Amino acid sequence: MTREKDIDTLFLEERRYPPSAEFAAQANAQPGIYEEDFDAFWEREGRERVAWFEPFTKLYEWEPPYARWYLGGKLNVAWNCLDKHVEAGRGDSVAYYWEGEPEGDRRELTYADLLAEVTKLANGLKQLGVGKGTPVGIYMGMVPEAPVAMLACARLGAPHTVVFGGFSADSLAGRLQDMECEVLITQDEAWRRGTTVPLKRTADEAVAASPTVQSVIVLRRTGNDVPMTAGRDHWWHELAVDASACPAEPMDPEDLLYLLYTSGTTAKPKGIAHTTAGYLVGVATTHHYIFDLKRDADVYWCAADVGWVTGHSYIVYGPLCNGAASVMYEGTPDFPDKDRWWEVAERYGVTILYTAPTAIRSHMKWGPEHAAKHDLSKLRLLGSVGEPINPEAWIWYHEHIGGERCPIVDTWWQTETGMIMITPLPGITTTKPGSATKPFPGVDAAIYNDAGEEVGPGGGGYLVLRRPWPAMLRGLYKEHDRYVDTYWSRYDDVYFAGDGARVDEDSDFWLLGRVDDVMNVSGHRISTIEVESALVDHHDVAEAAVAARHDGTTGQAIVAFVTLKSGIEGSVAMLEELRDHVAKKIGPIAKPANIVFTPELPKTRSGKIMRRLLRDVAENRPLGDTTTLADPTVVEELRHRGAEEQSNED
Ligand code: PRX
Repeated sequence: MTREKDIDTLFLEERRYPPSAEFAAQANAQPGIYEEDFDAFWEREGRERVAWFEPFTKLYEWEPPYARWYLGGKLNVAWNCLDKHVEAGRGDSVAYYWEGEPEGDRRELTYADLLAEVTKLANGLKQLGVGKGTPVGIYMGMVPEAPVAMLACARLGAPHTVVFGGFSADSLAGRLQDMECEVLITQDEAWRRGTTVPLKRTADEAVAASPTVQSVIVLRRTGNDVPMTAGRDHWWHELAVDASACPAEPMDPEDLLYLLYTSGTTAKPKGIAHTTAGYLVGVATTHHYIFDLKRDADVYWCAADVGWVTGHSYIVYGPLCNGAASVMYEGTPDFPDKDRWWEVAERYGVTILYTAPTAIRSHMKWGPEHAAKHDLSKLRLLGSVGEPINPEAWIWYHEHIGGERCPIVDTWWQTETGMIMITPLPGITTTKPGSATKPFPGVDAAIYNDAGEEVGPGGGGYLVLRRPWPAMLRGLYKEHDRYVDTYWSRYDDVYFAGDGARVDEDSDFWLLGRVDDVMNVSGHRISTIEVESALVDHHDVAEAAVAARHDGTTGQAIVAFVTLKSGIEGSVAMLEELRDHVAKKIGPIAKPANIVFTPELPKTRSGKIMRRLLRDVAENRPLGDTTTLADPTVVEELRHRGAEEQSNED
């Protein structure tokens, strides 16, 4: 667990933040919501949040480990996100206030604009042969065309997989191959901190290794020249020109909406499958209550990237289904200055901000003066996601961003859950810094011990989900056995989330981090084995083992223990080379913060690497039992080298 050191401190946390009477009086969530019957709740939300071409006739079917929801209905996700609002006379309402990274680069897209863009792209995709069921890859930065691409796919019934623009050609190719994508939508380059990221070049490399991809659509973003392959590549602005109506495909509730690949405990990412109806109901419902959205008054900003599930559920599908006006920002928080976010928040009058603890800790490090320069008085609600939030960061967020008046919703969920599962409800919940508090209505979360017994107040164990929920994953793409092994084998018919948690005397949940070989670096999930495989892929590496250590800003940081092939020296140059190699294989987010060169890794007598010991070394903790080690001196040596390495850090 990541927070072993902090757990006791956490439970000494006694600060309490009850909701204000004013917030409570106007809140979308009223206290009775927790008393509602499970079926009645999801039945009503299913009708209220989503518009159906044909109404559903059965709420759900549960044949563990697979659930099906809102059976018998017909609907289209893009229709719900666009046409529904335009037909209701809200076509002139803003869907996105988009802020590019280069200063002054701004666009405002209404729901009618967005529908027009989606229609043109959908018509273009059709010309390329895309229809219901055609898999499409999307590899883009934070431009409005990313949601346009997702929605154009959804309109046609073509499942998409969005690949984060920071991923490498290998990572992109792995996903394109696994899903057998026929089309890839990308852009020439993306802006990042004043320089350009060569998305098209990386896409070309990936497509060369992905034989199913027949067509590539390229958005012009920076305008720099990129090579185009005749017959395969199409400029977006030349392809997406037909503005004639493109009907939204009536979809079955369980038709695949998208796959999103996420790190598991092996080197191969898992293709998390999300379908149409339950997913849309789940994200729209949670977005409505948890962010207390008043669509004609609020300006909502989820500062995630569309390449992650947070972007899918809470930049694109949830907010658009609810008719929200969202801010979408292309760049990093500190470019060109450390107050960029706050300038953006002030300009658009942001009322709701949703971000990750790692970002909050960066702002903390830079100091409160950057936010203080801007008028953030319109903010009325703050959210956090992606990793446990430490009480100091929570308090800083509350004081310096929220002006001590905004409720904070610390939302626990996963790519797999599709929607927020554990969270305060603003206006109802008394919050505690560091606790995600209670399961969302219609969610049955509990904490189990090793024996599968529920742990009572004051206890700790593994977080589980006992009843299905609408937005739950419908399995891992083409990997039934892995789906069962990963989530459903620890306890019978109960979903094992892979997180440790504790529950306090008020039945509030405290999430403690992963209990498996998945690391959480800046809110990004990275598997230790994925990084190890990338290191071992380097020709000079004989063996590698990876562990995470605590980091004040990124939550966890990656520490790699590397044994080089004989005759090769562990130098500073080699260190850089290996870090770059990992970036090339996976993406810069997976670069180890520290690399410790070691002549040997600690192994049991049967030859298994003792990861627990490596975690202790990485964390600089007292070492546990070393008696099973084949050669106990290896660890002392490692510890020594680890300490040296950390003292060399900047
Ligand atoms: O360990 C939990 C952590 O992030 C994991 C899920 O990562 P991912 O699928 O990438 O989705 C991130 C965004 C939803 C979880 O297993 N996590 C997420 N939110 C929280 C959290 N840990 C503690 N508190 C949270 N609020």
